[in-house]
Amino acid sequence: MTDSAPSLELTNLEPTAADMTAQVARGLSNSQKTMPSAFFYDEPGSALFDEICRVPEYYPTRTELAIMAASLPEMAAAIGPEALVIEYGSGTGLKTRGLLSALERPVGYVPVEISREFLMTSAEALQAEFGDLEVLPVCADFTEPFEVPKPSKPAQRRALYFPGSTIGNFRPEFATKLLRQMRDEVGSGGCALIGVDLVKVTQTLEAAYNDAQGVTAKFNLNMLRRANAELGADFDLDAFRHRAVWVQERSAIEMRLYARRPTAVNLGGKRFTFLEGEWIHTEDSHKYTLEAFASLAQQAGFDVDRVWTDDDKLFSVQYLLAR
Ligand code: AVI
Repeated sequence: MTDSAPSLELTNLEPTAADMTAQVARGLSNSQKTMPSAFFYDEPGSALFDEICRVPEYYPTRTELAIMAASLPEMAAAIGPEALVIEYGSGTGLKTRGLLSALERPVGYVPVEISREFLMTSAEALQAEFGDLEVLPVCADFTEPFEVPKPSKPAQRRALYFPGSTIGNFRPEFATKLLRQMRDEVGSGGCALIGVDLVKVTQTLEAAYNDAQGVTAKFNLNMLRRANAELGADFDLDAFRHRAVWVQERSAIEMRLYARRPTAVNLGGKRFTFLEGEWIHTEDSHKYTLEAFASLAQQAGFDVDRVWTDDDKLFSVQYLLAR
C-alpha cells in the first residue's frame, strides 16, 4: 500500500479482519446461509466488477453513463454552484469525474469507502485531476452514520451522489434507513443524485447477472477465495457454482453460490456444513418501479424532483430534494 499524499486528511474507520470474520461466521450460521456483499470488493473483486461493467449483458453501467452524458448540464444546474459533493463509494469512475467537471465551482468532494486502499488511490487521482477541489476522504462503512468533514470554503448546499444502483443492494427497509441517513447528512434544502435500476423482463435481468463469459461467476466465487486468503477459511472453491435468480416477490436478483456436493468449511473456530444443492445467498440487487422508489424516498424525507431515464426505461438517475 502506498502512503497517502500529505494534502489528504483521512478519517479512518476501516473494519478489522476480526470484525469481518465475526460477520461472515454470523451469516453462515443462519438457516439460509449468507455472506455480506460488501465482502466482494477486495482488489481482485473490484477488478472483476469493472469487468462485469463491460460485459454485453450487464446493461446498468453503460445505460447510466449514457443517461449522465445526455443530461449532465441539467443535473449540474439542479445541484447549483459551490456544492459539497459526498459520494458513497470510492468514485473511481467516469461518472464521478463527469459530475465534478459539470458542476459550477464545487467546494469539496467527500468520497466514503470502506477499503482504505481504494479510497486513497482514487482520492489521490481525483485530487491530482481536480487541483482546486478540496478532497476529503472518509474511510468508513457508509451504512453507518459518520461525521461529514467540513471543507475550508463554506458550501452553498450538500449533494449526496450515489450512482450505480448500489442502493439496490440493500433491502428496501434498509434502503429507506440509508436514504434517511443521506437526508440527515445533506440537511434540509440539500439534495441527492441517485442511480436506480428499474424493473424489467426476467430474461434481461437474469442474463445481466449470469453473463456468458462467466465474469459474474468469478466475481461471486471470489468471495470464497477472499475468505480463505484473509479470514483463514478453507472453502473448497470447486464445490460451489454461481447462479443468479430473479425473485419476483422480492423484486430482486439474488446472487447465490450453490454447493455442487456435500461440503464443509472451517472459519473462526467453527465448522459449517453444506448439503448438495444448498446455497449461500451473497447479494440482493433490488429493482424498482419509479413509483416504488418515489415512495421509498418520501418515507426518508426526500421528494423526487426529477428523473432521467434511457428510452427503454432500463435505468434511472433520480434527483431528490431533502424536505
Ligand atoms: C454494485 N451493484 C450495484 C452491482 C449490482 O448490479 O447489483 C453488483 C453486481 N453484482 C453482480 N453483478 C453486479
